[in-house]
Amino acid sequence: MLGLSRREFLLGSAGTLSAFAAGGFAARQAQAAEHALTLSSLDHGILPDTVTKAMMSFAAYGPPPVLRLKQGQKTAIEVTNALDEASVVHWHGLRIANRMDGVPYLTQNPIETGQAFRYEFTPPDAGTFWYHPHCNTLEQIARGMTGMLIVEDGEDPGFDKDLPLNIRDFRLGSDGQFIDFYKPRNAARGGTLGTVSTVNWQVEPDFELEAGSLVRLRLAVTDLTRVGTYAVEGAQALVIALDSNPLPSPVPAADITLAPGQRADIALRVPDGEAADVRLVRRKSGGDKVLARFRPAGASARRDLRELKPLNPNPVPEADLNNAEVLDFVFGWSPEGNAPRPSICGSLGYTFWSINRIAWTGDAPGPLDPLATLKQGKSYILRLRNESPNAHPIHLHGVSFRLLNSNKRKLPPLVTDTALLLKEETMDVALVADNPGDWAFHCHVIEHQKTGLTGFLRIEG
Ligand code: C2O
Ligand code: CU
Ligand code: CU
Repeated sequence: MLGLSRREFLLGSAGTLSAFAAGGFAARQAQAAEHALTLSSLDHGILPDTVTKAMMSFAAYGPPPVLRLKQGQKTAIEVTNALDEASVVHWHGLRIANRMDGVPYLTQNPIETGQAFRYEFTPPDAGTFWYHPHCNTLEQIARGMTGMLIVEDGEDPGFDKDLPLNIRDFRLGSDGQFIDFYKPRNAARGGTLGTVSTVNWQVEPDFELEAGSLVRLRLAVTDLTRVGTYAVEGAQALVIALDSNPLPSPVPAADITLAPGQRADIALRVPDGEAADVRLVRRKSGGDKVLARFRPAGASARRDLRELKPLNPNPVPEADLNNAEVLDFVFGWSPEGNAPRPSICGSLGYTFWSINRIAWTGDAPGPLDPLATLKQGKSYILRLRNESPNAHPIHLHGVSFRLLNSNKRKLPPLVTDTALLLKEETMDVALVADNPGDWAFHCHVIEHQKTGLTGFLRIEG
């Protein structure tokens, strides 16, 4: 105790203790930002009284976990491949560093059986995203590998509950087993639809929600193929964001068209009475298809949608349209003699589609040349021309873009990463090339992606 009073000694040790505690807390926080996924095959029941064999997930048991990250906070996701084939994981919609984007050959090597890869990134945007493999993509997604990824904003808009809804089909026979994942003749047209519609791997699930409460429904269409129109019925419900980006003013959740890869955030005011029948439906000629039900329970929380704070816009840079260069892309048929190359990430064996007449059967090595080279920091208008009679949800990795106009319809000025191109539609979208790297650019109907409708854009730093 030389020269230290008892008081100083106590303060000193208190200081040391709190420094130690703070260190422990920081360490725990670093740990809290750690996630682990194990790519696994498993048997799991989807249809009643059946067990579907050889499903695939991001966990040893059950559906893919919902990953929750924080905007602007670094996270690490350790991916271990326990499948007996190679894979790689892509974070759909996240504007992160290219080497963490999870595209085989373009950004990393496939993760082989028994190997692990550590993804580390800081999500710049808040909202509803999802994750999926980008290797043998058709089969791995068909078997179940689509998970939701939520990036939370620091500011709480005031919901009582947050409910992710992973919407997708499976192609199952009545015995609950997988049937052919696609049909080649469909791959050359609109794509092959699933036979069983699910939400969070369940057929028509029931969610019990506190009566009178405010719930944030996060819809993600992670299906291989299906473009649908969705609605929430039987309650007050407003769309507050599309594809992770807040709408300037919310609109009723009545007719929301979502293509594979697209998302919608809906503010739901749960009705007061337990008798209310609230449904998530997909529009269908001859009667809507119910996908999920929401049941009010207990005494009313008496919340009001007007109590919610508006969502903060994401920091996506605004393109300078007066100085933007126009880049043309044609989505259409593949030229003859474009045989797909074999790849450990799988090939369907057909080439039906192309971008600018170049067919890259996604997940395979090559083509070596980008469809276009963009300069970092510059603004561009991408002119997307669909010369086919089928719709294509066109997705760009690494950069978000704003919808400008179309030759077919009036477009809302949305910011997105996936735009649905209708048949024979030409659409202009604008972006700032602010994220350097080689960015995959493809149709999110996976049969199209895997039979040629894939390429990449290079942003040169
Ligand atoms: Cu959702 Cu290239 O991916
Ligand atoms: Cu993506
Ligand atoms: Cu397509």
